[in-house]
Amino acid sequence: MPELAIDRLSKSFDGKMVLKDVTFHIEPDEFVSILGPSGSGKSTLFHLIGGISQPDEGEISLDGERINGKKGSISYMPQSPALFPWRTILQNVLLGAEIAGKKDLPAAVAMLEKAGLKEYESAYPHQLSGGMQQRAAFIRSLLSPQPLICLDEPFSALDEFTRSEMQQWLLSIWMEHRRSILFITHNIEEALFLSDRIIILSDKPANVKAEFDIPFPRPRDESIVLTEEFLTYKKAVYNELKADSGA
Ligand SMILES: Nc1ncnc2c1ncn2[C@@H]1O[C@H](COP(=O)(O)OP(=O)(O)OP(=O)(O)O)[C@@H](O)[C@H]1O
Ligand SMILES: [Mg+2]
Repeated sequence: MPELAIDRLSKSFDGKMVLKDVTFHIEPDEFVSILGPSGSGKSTLFHLIGGISQPDEGEISLDGERINGKKGSISYMPQSPALFPWRTILQNVLLGAEIAGKKDLPAAVAMLEKAGLKEYESAYPHQLSGGMQQRAAFIRSLLSPQPLICLDEPFSALDEFTRSEMQQWLLSIWMEHRRSILFITHNIEEALFLSDRIIILSDKPANVKAEFDIPFPRPRDESIVLTEEFLTYKKAVYNELKADSGA
């Protein structure tokens, strides 16, 4: 049974259709990325999966259970990291685990250290840069116990080197503690480096226009981005996206 099944999902805002008949699934422990033009409805899709809003049509099931409009079934990192200003960084990253009654302090401290945030444990969000806040929000979603993690452009505020480090860090954690991940990004290379599969959404109203299986063996090293095969995939994905942008 797929971990997540999205079946003919549609959503309109003010009479304008944003998602139209979106159908895809994620297998247990699979890493799937979603690429699509800006404004195509990617974040909207995450809001629906997270139960923050309801689809007009279609079904969302997690592990066989219908979760339309149901909050708390997935671990979700929104596009703008929502850290609570009155909680320290350590208290913030522990929030999801705490709500689920599964607080693991040593794991949180170890992850903060790996993300270069050790000295900010007791700091408050406003004392951190945007990229650091993004990393903290990302750790919080990893520490939450739900089987599916939805990450909406988690590395977009990071410089290229930090981003590459965070990608490798994410992969190493994911290899160790397998979970299903649905990952939104605008970065083709990032999607190729991380994913088992890439789903391409069309422009609004979005539906699934292409899927790529990404066969690079794991564990993956950053040197794969320089290989011929990687570039071939990069071109194929790029052309699929470009075909829609009107360029
Ligand atoms: N609550 C809302 N009310 C009205 N319109 C909305 C609402 N949420 C999203 N939209 C519209 O739906 C469309 C898709 O927005 P969404 O944020 O899902 O795009 P996106 O693919 O995540 O874009 P980006 O890549 O820029 O993050 C946009 O045209 C947006 O204006
Ligand atoms: Mg978005």
